[in-house]
Amino acid sequence: MPAPETSNYPGLSLTLPTLEQKSWQQLVTVLDNSSGETTAPGFKTMTVASRTATGADARTVVLRKVDADRKYVWFHTDVRAAKVMQFEAFPDCTLLFWDEKSQVQLRLTVETRLHTDDYVADEHWQTIGAGNRKNYLSEYRPGSEQPAPYPGFPAHLGAGLPSAEESEAGRANFAVIECRVLAMDYLQLNRSGQVRALFQYEPESKMVWLAP
Ligand SMILES: Cc1cc2nc3c(=O)[nH]c(=O)nc-3n(C[C@H](O)[C@H](O)[C@H](O)COP(=O)(O)O)c2cc1C
Repeated sequence: MPAPETSNYPGLSLTLPTLEQKSWQQLVTVLDNSSGETTAPGFKTMTVASRTATGADARTVVLRKVDADRKYVWFHTDVRAAKVMQFEAFPDCTLLFWDEKSQVQLRLTVETRLHTDDYVADEHWQTIGAGNRKNYLSEYRPGSEQPAPYPGFPAHLGAGLPSAEESEAGRANFAVIECRVLAMDYLQLNRSGQVRALFQYEPESKMVWLAP
C-alpha cells in the first residue's frame, strides 16, 4: 500500500517496534518525577470504561504504576466504589488515555484484578502520602446518597492532612486494581497524516498498522 506522497507524514519514519516501545516509555516517564519534562503529561490520568449488568460506565482515575516489560498498569480506588463491583462481575475493561501535547490516544484493552487484603495492596499503600490517604477516610460508600454536600472525609480534617496514625484507618477502604494489558491501540493525530497501530499481546502477539 503506497504511503502518502508528502514527506511530512510522521508514519514514514516509524517502525512498529519503536512505536510500541515509545508508547510504553511515555506511560513510564509520566510517573517518574526525576525525569523532569515528560513528553505526554496527559497520561497521568485515564478513563476507565467498564461493563455493568445493564450497560456501560466510565470514570477518570490516576495512573499509579506501569510495568512496560510485563505489560501491566495499576490504579487505586475505594473498595466500596461501584466500579469495584463492576470489575468483579466483568473483569474486561478499556483504559483510555489522551495526551494533548503529543496528540496521542492510547486505548488499552485490559483484564482487571482486585487487590485489597494482600501484599500488593500493602505495597501500594506504603507509597501514598497523607493527602492521598485522606481520600480513603470517607465514612460513607462512594456514590451513596447524602442529606447535604459531603467532602469525602471526616469534617474535622477540613483542609488539613490526617496524621500518619489517623490515615491508617483508610487502609481498610483502599484497593489496588491491577490491569493486565491484552492490547494497545495507538492513534496519533497529525495534519500531515494520522498514525494508527495495534499492539496485541494476548491471546497471541502481533503488531500491525491500522487505517485511522
Ligand atoms: C482528575 C481525577 C482523578 C481521579 N482519580 C481517581 C482515582 O485514582 N481513583 C478513583 O477511584 N477515583 C478517582 N477519581 C474519581 C472518579 O472519577 C469517580 O468519580 C469515582 O471514583 C467514583 O466512580 P465509580 O462510581 O465509577 O466507582 C478521579 C476523578 C478525577 C476528576
